[in-house]
Amino acid sequence: MFRLDGQVAIVTGGAQGIGVGICKVFIEAGATVAMWDIVDGQPVVDEITANGGNIFYQKVDVTSKESTESAVAEIMEKHGRIDVLINNAGIIRDKSFMKMTEDQWDSVMNVNVKSLYVTAKAVLPHMIEAQYGRIVSASSINAMNGAYGQTNYSASKAAIQGFTRSLCREVGKHRITVNCVAPGFIKTAMTDSIPKEIIEGAIKQIPIRRIGLPEDMGYAYLFLASKEAEFINGITLHANGGVYPI
Ligand code: NAI
Repeated sequence: MFRLDGQVAIVTGGAQGIGVGICKVFIEAGATVAMWDIVDGQPVVDEITANGGNIFYQKVDVTSKESTESAVAEIMEKHGRIDVLINNAGIIRDKSFMKMTEDQWDSVMNVNVKSLYVTAKAVLPHMIEAQYGRIVSASSINAMNGAYGQTNYSASKAAIQGFTRSLCREVGKHRITVNCVAPGFIKTAMTDSIPKEIIEGAIKQIPIRRIGLPEDMGYAYLFLASKEAEFINGITLHANGGVYPI
């Protein structure tokens, strides 16, 4: 169950943080992974391939139609299929609203929201032809909770949920599902820079009393990316250790 043998999965923003966890879990599940990122993912790819995984890095900017379409064309030429699209790439540009610049607003909307238009447009024709596909995108606990200094980010992560609920209605007839994962507090390079006492305070708010790991998110994405999850469509899977009262 929950295997991806013989399948090809794209993981955007795969070179760092949660993306690496998703790549590793998908490799363990038997997938061939196309890691997309604007930063160099080759070192992570080399580490994973040293342990026998099928993964390759493509330098892709998910806000660019040209960059995304040429990467998709390369995958189709070499592998002939795209079964799974994980829209994990995302950025923050935090600032209290009255100090937030238009550029901080636009760049977050561009990377976090417009990217879904770009990547899904490029991949869906191939999924529709195959009459199979899984699209899973990164929302956030802060789409529901909100957070000081994150009007741009919270709005973008809520938009991803709306996109998901609408697109799933359009492509379900092709046996393509569209879902989101809303991660909670996850250990990445970003959270490593937060002072220890703040981390400890945050962990006290998490019912299972630990910070999430990139692999925890990998398993959540794997479930929604699996063929067994076909009847789960348009949802947001809250992967946060029980923090948010849903
Ligand atoms: P991260 O910053 O460690 O990794 C994000 C990756 O996306 C980076 O490798 C970055 O280079 C890449 N990226 C940025 N812009 C890109 C572009 N235009 N094209 C291609 N790749 C691009 O972030 P992290 O923490 O791993 O988060 C991953 C996702 O999960 C994000 O969407 C984030 O908003 C979401 N999330 C993370 C949480 C956390 O606690 N870390 C909590 C809730 C949601």
